[in-house]
Amino acid sequence: MTETVVAPNPLAEGLRMRRPPEPFALTIFGASGDLTQRKLMPALYSLVFRGLLPDAFAILGVSRMEAADDVFREHMRQAVIDHSRDEFREDVWQQLAERLFFVTADVSAAGSEALAARLDELDETHGTSGNRVYYLAVPPKAFGPIVTALGNARKASGWTRLIVEKPFGTDLATGRQLNELVHRYFEEQEIYRIDHYLGKETVQNMLVLRFANGIFEPIWNRQFIDHVQITVAESLGVEGRGDFYDETGAMRDVVQNHMLQLVALTAMEPPIDFEAEAVRNEKVKVLKAMHTPGPKHVARGQYGTGFIEGAPVPGYREEDGVAPDSETETYVAAKLYVDNWRWADTPFYIRTGKRLPRRETTIAIQFKRAPHPPFEVDDEEGLRPNVLLIHIQPDEGVSLAVGAKVPGQGVSIRTVHMDFLYGGAFRVGLPEAYERLILDCLLGDATLFTRADEVEEQWALVDAMLAPWQRDRPHFPNYAAGTWGPHSADELLRRDGRSWRRH
Ligand code: BG6
Repeated sequence: MTETVVAPNPLAEGLRMRRPPEPFALTIFGASGDLTQRKLMPALYSLVFRGLLPDAFAILGVSRMEAADDVFREHMRQAVIDHSRDEFREDVWQQLAERLFFVTADVSAAGSEALAARLDELDETHGTSGNRVYYLAVPPKAFGPIVTALGNARKASGWTRLIVEKPFGTDLATGRQLNELVHRYFEEQEIYRIDHYLGKETVQNMLVLRFANGIFEPIWNRQFIDHVQITVAESLGVEGRGDFYDETGAMRDVVQNHMLQLVALTAMEPPIDFEAEAVRNEKVKVLKAMHTPGPKHVARGQYGTGFIEGAPVPGYREEDGVAPDSETETYVAAKLYVDNWRWADTPFYIRTGKRLPRRETTIAIQFKRAPHPPFEVDDEEGLRPNVLLIHIQPDEGVSLAVGAKVPGQGVSIRTVHMDFLYGGAFRVGLPEAYERLILDCLLGDATLFTRADEVEEQWALVDAMLAPWQRDRPHFPNYAAGTWGPHSADELLRRDGRSWRRH
């Protein structure tokens, strides 16, 4: 079979049009799991919808579920109907369904002859050319056995790539062990460690905003910026993942990966180009420059009962799968410093939590106050500092807060917002992060994936922040569901004469 050349397709706007991927066979371990249904299959459907995949591809789901190809296809059809951002079209679905297969097996089958034979067969019938992508959508304890089995069963023809979901380890030691294991069998450029935040359109826009506009670079430093606030707030609780979450907590679940990526992208130096190594080198430099915050600079919380949008919700300790005396944090706030020439003494305040009043991910760059405003202003409102607010989600866009004269006699100043909203400016739906990331992996572009040394730097910082928690028992729960987190998080900023952005 030959590769199709992708025709210009207006629907492909929003996903960069590049060369189409080479033929491939994608094996998904954990094919009956939540991630496959909610994210992976809808993303693959959207890629087919936009004509972004080659003709010659096949997808092989692997899980312990007893099912034939047909039954698996029916499950996946429903998953696409339920979760795709695109309308369901039978003709598009058929293109995917014809290339969708299933094997019942557990992880021990990863390198088995049966699986290899099935893939070889797909090479014959679907022209997949021996090119293999293995997607590990399985709990972390299954990574090791799968990687070992796949490594031992590597074949000579075609390329092999491995996509690994987070969490990549549970601390520095286990993250390192996992890196050593995968490096035993795979080259670093064959490993795609997912952090889905990097696939978000608005997160990538952070780089464009900074590096495609001349006006920001001269003021993007300690001379002009007072501090940065990064918020990843969720109103959801643990959503049936109590078992996993209770062993993980907010620090490992969100700070170690998503939040540190946002800090790195905000603070990094301009890379020499947008190739994977250049971008990742700069991010690693930021992580290396961050020094460990002392215990007073890290606040933790756990939600108790409360209300979300007027409806009562249980406390964390009452959730399914959570120990009734759990000391797992569902909220973290911290003051971080990036100790380099650009950012010395400029705090990066970060906070993340479950069961906060609403879903909001933002990066707020707060500039220093005007040195000497020559106006007499009676209320504080008039003299608020400028803030560049990057809305990662929802209401994706960028907004700049500036002081403006209220029309009328005298000088009265009020903060107004200059807004750019994605929805209004581009009028196309934003691609889901997984569409971008799967396509990038198929194209062999690792820019938006976490490199081995990067994940180790992230764990080193997180381990250091977690260490003092071993000594002090927390007084949990310490914030009510539906509020903005514990008192200690407010204190963290109040001590510096600052406060969290108003909501
Ligand atoms: C995941 C975490 O990585 O990110 C979840 O495991 C969290 O706990 C989720 O809810 C948040 O992602 P998003 O895209 O909804 O902001």
